[in-house]
Formats: sequence, C-alpha cells, structure tokens
Amino acid sequence: MNIELLNKDLGLPSGNVEVEFLTLDKLENEKQKKSLKKMGFKAEQDALCFLNEKQFLACGVEDMSANNIRSATTVAIKHLKSMNYTSASFNVEKSNIRAIIEGLILGGYEFNTYKSKPKKHKLKNIHLLNSDISSLQKEFQEAVIVAEATCFTRDIVNTAPDDIHPPELAKVAKNLAKENGLECRVLNEKALKKEKCEAMLAVGRASRHESQLIHLSYKPKNAKKIISLVGKGLTYDSGGLSLKPATSMVSMKMDKAGACAVLGLMKAVSELKLDVEVHGFIGAVENMIGGDAYKPDDVLKSRSGTTIEVRNTDAEGRLVLADVLDYAQDKVKADYLFDFATLTGACMVALGQYTTGVMGHSNRLKHDLSKAASRSGELTASLPFNKHLKKQIKSEIADICNISNKPYGGAITAGLFLDTFIHEENKNKWLHFDIAGSAYTESPWDCNTYGATGSGVRFMSEFLKSIK
Ligand code: BES
Ligand code: ZN
Ligand code: ZN
Repeated sequence: MNIELLNKDLGLPSGNVEVEFLTLDKLENEKQKKSLKKMGFKAEQDALCFLNEKQFLACGVEDMSANNIRSATTVAIKHLKSMNYTSASFNVEKSNIRAIIEGLILGGYEFNTYKSKPKKHKLKNIHLLNSDISSLQKEFQEAVIVAEATCFTRDIVNTAPDDIHPPELAKVAKNLAKENGLECRVLNEKALKKEKCEAMLAVGRASRHESQLIHLSYKPKNAKKIISLVGKGLTYDSGGLSLKPATSMVSMKMDKAGACAVLGLMKAVSELKLDVEVHGFIGAVENMIGGDAYKPDDVLKSRSGTTIEVRNTDAEGRLVLADVLDYAQDKVKADYLFDFATLTGACMVALGQYTTGVMGHSNRLKHDLSKAASRSGELTASLPFNKHLKKQIKSEIADICNISNKPYGGAITAGLFLDTFIHEENKNKWLHFDIAGSAYTESPWDCNTYGATGSGVRFMSEFLKSIK
C-alpha cells in the first residue's frame, strides 16, 4: 500500500473512494446528508457508511481529536481493504495527518509470515490531500517513519520463538545496524562470563540457545544529549522451573517486546536523523526448563556484585535487566536511561491491558514523559515507589530477593528491584516502563491489531524528538 501526500487541486483516478470524517454537527452540513441519514448513519464513533454511487465513505467521529481520528481511520482502512477499490483519498491537515497515517499503517497492519495463502488486497494507493503540501511534508515523513518502525517492532515480536531465539535476535540487530548505519556489538556467553553477568547467564542456562547482550549505537555529530535504552529480550518465557500454567505460557514469545521496542526505536531515531546520541542495550535470553536450569533457592551474584536470592524462576526479566542495566551504565554515561520490559502480570492488574506503567524517582521526568505519551496517543500511567514496598523484596540470606514476600504491588516491587541496580548518579535520569499489558493483544483496540502492538516506540520517539 502506497501512501502519498498530494496537491488537492490535482484530479484523482476514477474508482477512487473519498473518505470523510463526520461528527454529528458536521453531518448536518454535509452535502450527502440525505443519503447518509436515509441509511441510518448517525456519525457515531467508528461507524461507517458507504455510498456506492458517490464512491464516498463516511466515518463517524465523536470529535476531531487525534485519538478519535486514528481509531476511525483504522476502521476505515480495514473496510477499504476488504473491498475491491484500488485507491482512496483523505483530506489532511496539520492537526490530523499523523493520526491518519497511524490509522492507515498501524491499523492496516497484518502479520502474514506464517500464512501459506495470505489475503490479497486490491487497495494500492492512498492519497492524502491538502492544498499546501509543502507545509505538511515534515509531519508526513516523521509519522511514516515512526509508524513503520512500530510495525518493524511488531513483526519481530510476532515471530515464533523458535524462529527468533537469542542468536537470531542478535542477527536482526546486526542487519538493522548495517542498513541504518549503526554500530553493533554483541556479547555471547563467553563474553558475558568475562563481564560477570551471572544473573543473566543463570536465566538462559537451560536453553539450547546462547544468551546474547546486544549493544547498538546511533552517534550523530554534535549530539545534544545521550540516551540509553534498555530492553528485556526474553525470546521465550516458559517460567523456568517455576513453570507457567499452560494457558499463561501461550503468547510468551512476546516477552521480547521490550527488546523489540528498543530495536524499533533505534530504527526510528536513525531515520528521523535526530540530533541525540542513542544507545540500545538488549538482554536476549530464553527461560527454559531442564537439568541445567537455575532453581528457586539459588543465590546469584549479579554483575554489580549484589547477590540475589531466587525464589521464583518466572521472575526472570528483572535478573536479566539487573545485569544489562549495570553494563549499560558502566559503558555509557547517559543523560537519560530508560528500560522497556514486559515485566509483570501485576502491572496489568493495576492499570489494565492498555496502559504502560511508568516508574522512577524524578517527578519532572515522569511529567515530561507523560506529556510526550499523550501527544503520541499511547497510554501511560505512573506507579509510585515507596519505602514500605521496598522492604517486601528483602532477603534473609542474600542482598535482595527476586520476588516480593507479599501478593500486592507486584509491578512496583519489580520496579524497585531494578532500582537496586541503578547507580546513585543516575537515579533521577532513569525511568522503567512495564509494557506487559500494552505490548500485546488478542483483541484489537485503537490502531492495535491482533498480536504485538509495538508499544513504547511511539511515546519514546515523541519524547526523543522533543529533547532540547
Ligand atoms: N514475562 C512475565 C510477565 C508477563 C505476564 C508479561 C503476562 C506479559 C503477560 C514475567 O517474567 C513474569 O512471569 N512475571 C511474574 C512475576 C512473579 C513470579 C513475581 C508474574 O507477573 O506473574
Ligand atoms: Zn517470567
Ligand atoms: Zn518474563
């Protein structure tokens, strides 16, 4: 599907469907009003009405906000793809062009890698129309780059765990580096041993695939700031010896979504040519069972020297991140440090499946991030730390325990576990994003189709774009 920004005054090919967003108010002034009313169209949000003789598709919206336009565009593109039309056009303005592009690219996304007969669509061209296209060019290009980077993230997350295991994820990173002019360094298990990443290595020990620490960098000249992004890359999380129940194990290929968001962001920042230096660190590991598996009761010495009592092998993401965060802070002195992880089911209990949990010490940074997230259309909410919850991860025999001794506040205690590995000078530079709920869905919502959503890519791109 080809999306083009075109001058409104140029004619459109015959057979083109004109798409228009209509609120109830706007419906009153619409020249097609009679026909639309006759068909029972009331301009309700996400309702569609197609006038065949006019080649006109009306899309109902509650108001013209970006969130509602994105949602309505998603419904429209799915409908258009199911019909025989070859081209469609939308009138665009500065206020809605990004939402329309997101609806088209993200809402129209399909993952067909494993379909032997993928559906074919006739829809080839989308025309975005405005009378002054030069004023929209930048907005247009940026929106396409970020949406496509989000689809890149989705594709990797959606790929089956036997096709994307840790060495394969490292290959994906190397290919991305080659295509986008990034530096890429990969540490295999031998190198990880040298680095004393014993917590990360323990998690991957029962896997037939070697764990990998991936470091990508984008280094433009005269960068204004340095940012480190860290991603949890569990290419499969069976739970380990604290095995997940059968129904909870399904979809655990998505436990690499944090890593994949980091990959998508590296793609986006390099294509946007942002003038910030960005480092992506990924802990790629598979959490499996076997005679060699790490166990509840093991005590692990992490890279930082902090000892960890393992009481549940399914709380593995924080063990991997403990080492990767420590490594990232030693290698790069960043102005901001962000980690992305499908870390806890508890985050979904707290916030629902649509919202990313944001944790950290700096209220200022949380505030700026939340502003960027609102502009991006992704949902985030802050989960506050407190000293009482910190006590819940104390260990009687080691420095810290990998699970809480109480059943409540699991997303925050996981965040506080990570906090143990944040160096003192970086406390106010760090935010943790728990994307357990927002990264994957089996029921489409907004512009998210079945499977991976690519969460994190849009809100962090928006934050990085706004850095002064
Ligand atoms: N990868 C899971 C978290 C998860 C659960 C992500 C559901 C997406 C959907 C993580 O490794 C995990 O298993 N966490 C445990 C922690 C518990 C043992 C303290 C959890 O959330 O149950
Ligand atoms: Zn787990
Ligand atoms: Zn996990």
